[in-house]
Amino acid sequence: MQASLPSHPIGVFDSGVGGLTVVRALMDRLPFENIIYFGDTARVPYGVKSVATIGHFTQQIADFLLQQQVKVLIIACNTMAAVAADRVRAASPVPVLDVIEAGARQAVQVSQSGGIGVIGTPATINSNAYARAIHQLDPRFRVYSQACPLFVPLVEEGWLEHPVTRLTAQEYLKPVFVEQIDTLVLGCTHYPLLKPLLLDVVGTRMKLVDSALSIAEQTAELLQSNGLANPVHQAPDYRYYVTDLPVKFQTIGERFLGRSLNRLELVNL
Ligand code: DGL
Repeated sequence: MQASLPSHPIGVFDSGVGGLTVVRALMDRLPFENIIYFGDTARVPYGVKSVATIGHFTQQIADFLLQQQVKVLIIACNTMAAVAADRVRAASPVPVLDVIEAGARQAVQVSQSGGIGVIGTPATINSNAYARAIHQLDPRFRVYSQACPLFVPLVEEGWLEHPVTRLTAQEYLKPVFVEQIDTLVLGCTHYPLLKPLLLDVVGTRMKLVDSALSIAEQTAELLQSNGLANPVHQAPDYRYYVTDLPVKFQTIGERFLGRSLNRLELVNL
């Protein structure tokens, strides 16, 4: 494999369409970087799959992106990061960033009371990966985690402000509210789209941490410190690979990305 060059693309991957929230944050923060996105739309959702299956699928995707000569790998999916980030790092010749590390870092900076809540898919919450990442930064923090499995389908349905979603959020967050928590990590690619509704539900009780924004910041720092920032300041190249093209992909994808989605390519792993 050839050495990484500043002109090479950033590789971002997720179990499906949700990781486009990370791509959107990267496009805003690093407007001259070329980006390749991979969404495993044929096998989504990962959040309810076993650790062995998630690990195997994750490595397949990382290998595919490394073949495309990416200069950095970004695990945009919280579930994959929770279960398989160590495995990807061990096998990767390029730096690997993941949303859990980025979200944990930001939560520790934001929290003043020392109590952090984390919401995510069952696989992410069961792995305890956020609590481990937070405790590695500072063992004094208390972490309370809550799985919210219904949020992913509700977001995919486009029910971002729907009363059913509001009721679901109130129900999921009830046990979080009784803990002494001032910061809530949105530990899933889909949750940033629920930010307005969640802000309304939590009110002034807590601040929300969006790991898409923190990973964009971390990527910018990494590219600078490794001399990998693209010096060419012209319209970048964006490519999107998916393993299936479901009917609503374009509409949902554009909602996540916040702009039109072109250059979509279907691949078989
Ligand atoms: N991308 C996943 C995550 O961030 C959510 C969707 C899924 O379950 O695959 O955890």
